[in-house]
Amino acid sequence: MTKTEIRKRMEMLRSSLTHDDVVSRSMAIEKSLTSLKAYEKAAVVFTYASFRNEVSTNTIIQKALNCGKRVAVPVCITKDKVLLPCEIESLDDLVPGTWGIPEPKEGKHKVIECSEIDLAVVPGLSFDRQFNRLGYGAGYYDRFLPALRKDAIKIGICYDFQLIEQLPSEPFDIPMDGVITESTVLIRPGIK
Ligand SMILES: Nc1ncnc2c1ncn2[C@@H]1O[C@H](COP(=O)(O)OP(=O)(O)OP(=O)(O)O)[C@@H](O)[C@H]1O
Ligand SMILES: [Mg+2]
Repeated sequence: MTKTEIRKRMEMLRSSLTHDDVVSRSMAIEKSLTSLKAYEKAAVVFTYASFRNEVSTNTIIQKALNCGKRVAVPVCITKDKVLLPCEIESLDDLVPGTWGIPEPKEGKHKVIECSEIDLAVVPGLSFDRQFNRLGYGAGYYDRFLPALRKDAIKIGICYDFQLIEQLPSEPFDIPMDGVITESTVLIRPGIK
């Protein structure tokens, strides 16, 4: 299957999840993510802010803030096709922004340096067991992720059905250090 075909199929499968499915599956994913040593050690967590039926990151954001971590979410700059990591202090800072994706309110964009990020929680329409990632198709994350520190940890989160055997990948596709679903935790050797 081509990238486009896989995106279509995954969007379709994901749109058939009920709200309860999203909540319960996201809770399992959040538990595994927050059990990682890399999460525990992270002082600055970057995570996407979920919308529609994406794996919910609300609890991830809330828990990270509760335990004193700094949290940044992406703000999408469409004219340059780039993501800016912006720190938030509360889930209440988020309002529907670019394409309806939750973003910090305008005028409340506290941009942080990419080099401050210790752990990045990355969305995807699909991932594979070789840590490849398939996004929505505009290259935003492929442009953003290389700006992170070399030792920053990139974790993709998705539902079980989105983890497939092999994705098509191109030279500019940035692979993950780990992929977490409700039933599976895949982490590259050498990363805890
Ligand atoms: N580092 C880069 N600099 C400039 N363009 C890039 C870069 N990486 C990817 N692109 C462009 O982005 C386009 C989309 O890439 P791809 O299909 O891999 O998107 P994706 O990974 O699904 O999207 P996203 O990263 O937004 O989730 C490609 O045509 C590619 O040319
Ligand atoms: Mg890509």
